[in-house]
Amino acid sequence: MVKGYFITGTDTGVGKTLVAGGLAALYKNKGLNVGVMKPVATGCKRVNNRLISDDAVFLKFSAEAEDEYDLINPVSLEQPLAPTVAARLSNTKIDTDKINTAFDTLCERHEYMIVEGIGGLLVPIDEYYFVVDMAEEMELPVIVVCRPTLGTINHTLLTVSYARQHGLDVKGIIINESAENCDAIVKDTNTDEIKRLTSLPILGTIPFHKKLDIKDYNKELLIKIFRDNVDKDIII
Ligand SMILES: Nc1ncnc2c1ncn2[C@@H]1O[C@H](COP(=O)(O)OP(=O)(O)OP(=O)(O)O)[C@@H](O)[C@H]1O
Ligand SMILES: [Mg+2]
Repeated sequence: MVKGYFITGTDTGVGKTLVAGGLAALYKNKGLNVGVMKPVATGCKRVNNRLISDDAVFLKFSAEAEDEYDLINPVSLEQPLAPTVAARLSNTKIDTDKINTAFDTLCERHEYMIVEGIGGLLVPIDEYYFVVDMAEEMELPVIVVCRPTLGTINHTLLTVSYARQHGLDVKGIIINESAENCDAIVKDTNTDEIKRLTSLPILGTIPFHKKLDIKDYNKELLIKIFRDNVDKDIII
């Protein structure tokens, strides 16, 4: 069975792509055979009449993956909305079989897979099929990315609790400072409270760094920041 992680988050914009890319870059840098996937992306840009996701491109770059774009991102939608809504507005229906087939193909090629979800666990992909169901089908251990800001204890506990209700194997939490100027007292106190209430390890705390932007493609910095700030045992 493939090893790796399904990266989810407490919300959109918390840093799932950065974390998934950072981990993939660490695996690759260690000489491991790692594949990446952004199964469903919305807010894609039209390039040469194809819809392209910035997230998928960043993951492909981070892992130096040679896989076809359509395997890495089998479902791409133009509107920056929840998948079911974006699909409805473009008069299409998301083909979940296409996601499973692409995932199976990538699993045959790679020893490790890093998969980025979309939004949080209860984002709808099909009428009654959510990100949590997709994660369950992929059978990968889950990492929850959260913000270090006020409100994160509630968001993180809800996410972990829902993941556990669905039988997902939650490995731990990565706290990512996705925006500058987080309140220091909030940042310093969240970690212990989240650890206490979830009994999960904090697998990393990623600082804000202007040049870490996913549109900057700064691989050297990405590897350095992740090597210095995530748990060494994260590479399984
Ligand atoms: N530690 C950080 N330092 C600097 N910029 C960051 C950091 N973490 C995230 N960002 C930036 O914040 C934005 C949101 O991060 P990211 O795209 O990784 O979030 P996401 O959870 O994947 O969002 P989405 O739900 O849209 O997929 C990006 O522009 C990213 O480059
Ligand atoms: Mg993303």
